[in-house]
Amino acid sequence: MVFNASRLLGKTVLVTGSSAGIGRATAILFAKAGSNVILLARRAEALEEVKQACIDVHQASKLSHGGQFAAIPFDVSDRVAINGIFDKIPANLRDIDILVNNAGYVVGREHVGDLDESVVEGMFATNVLGLISLTNLFVKGNPDFKSRGKGHIINLGSVAGREPYAGGSIYTATKHAVNAFTASMMRELINTPIRVTEVQPGMVETEFSLVRFKGDAAAAKAVYAGIEPLTGEDIAEEIVWAASRPPHVNIAETLIFPVNQASATVFYRAPS
Ligand SMILES: NC(=O)c1ccc[n+]([C@@H]2O[C@H](COP(=O)([O-])OP(=O)(O)OC[C@H]3O[C@@H](n4cnc5c(N)ncnc54)[C@H](OP(=O)(O)O)[C@@H]3O)[C@@H](O)[C@H]2O)c1
Repeated sequence: MVFNASRLLGKTVLVTGSSAGIGRATAILFAKAGSNVILLARRAEALEEVKQACIDVHQASKLSHGGQFAAIPFDVSDRVAINGIFDKIPANLRDIDILVNNAGYVVGREHVGDLDESVVEGMFATNVLGLISLTNLFVKGNPDFKSRGKGHIINLGSVAGREPYAGGSIYTATKHAVNAFTASMMRELINTPIRVTEVQPGMVETEFSLVRFKGDAAAAKAVYAGIEPLTGEDIAEEIVWAASRPPHVNIAETLIFPVNQASATVFYRAPS
């Protein structure tokens, strides 16, 4: 288990997009650290599988803290539903300490002129507007971080939130928006104990590229040719590490690359 994770014992964490990839690995690592976890994503069956994995690692850990899990099928792009989210969370898990805004995706590599409006709207609704609505609710909803004088918001940004690239205009726009929102929020919450973190991964091999290439497994695999990419577990360790710092320490940003990546577009690929 990672460095002083005892600070996470009995904490309650909500992870959006926890049916796969980074969110799945993050939920399981929090479960292993003795936290309670609320899992949110659209695919109910996949969420149940992750919930069982959380139960299994928690039991194996033999920790007496944590071990409470809930799988809630939920679409974070449905902002009306977000307002009723606390009603869906079991009463024993409503005292949430950490919100991990991880749900997000990209579809396609189309350039401007060929953009599909519904795809653009879907990405903004999930990656940006859902994240903002959920965060707004947690900071000043009921129950909320502000009146309870605690809370940690961890947003999944990306190297794409620091650096635009051709074929990623909408995705990079959404992640730049996450970056601006997160950094502004940190300033707005300066007089509170609420912590704000942005985790910015480079290339992580998850279902991300499969979604980007609309299920084309060969195209998705080619993204990682000649490179050892990061895994969901690598990013989960960063998230859990940030959450397990002492209460006076705020990890504002972390940028994480595979060792052969240096920017959104600069890689070294080993010859095959
Ligand atoms: N992989 C990378 O290279 C990379 C790099 C930088 C940043 N990121 C960011 O990391 C985050 C996680 O990505 P990943 O790599 O783990 O991708 P992934 O394996 O495709 O997982 C994405 C997760 O988001 C969920 N999701 C998507 N739309 C949703 C919605 N409307 N409502 C609720 N859940 C939704 C998906 O579940 P359902 O389909 O079941 O809803 C899934 O659990 C994203 O924000 C992504 O932008 C990824």
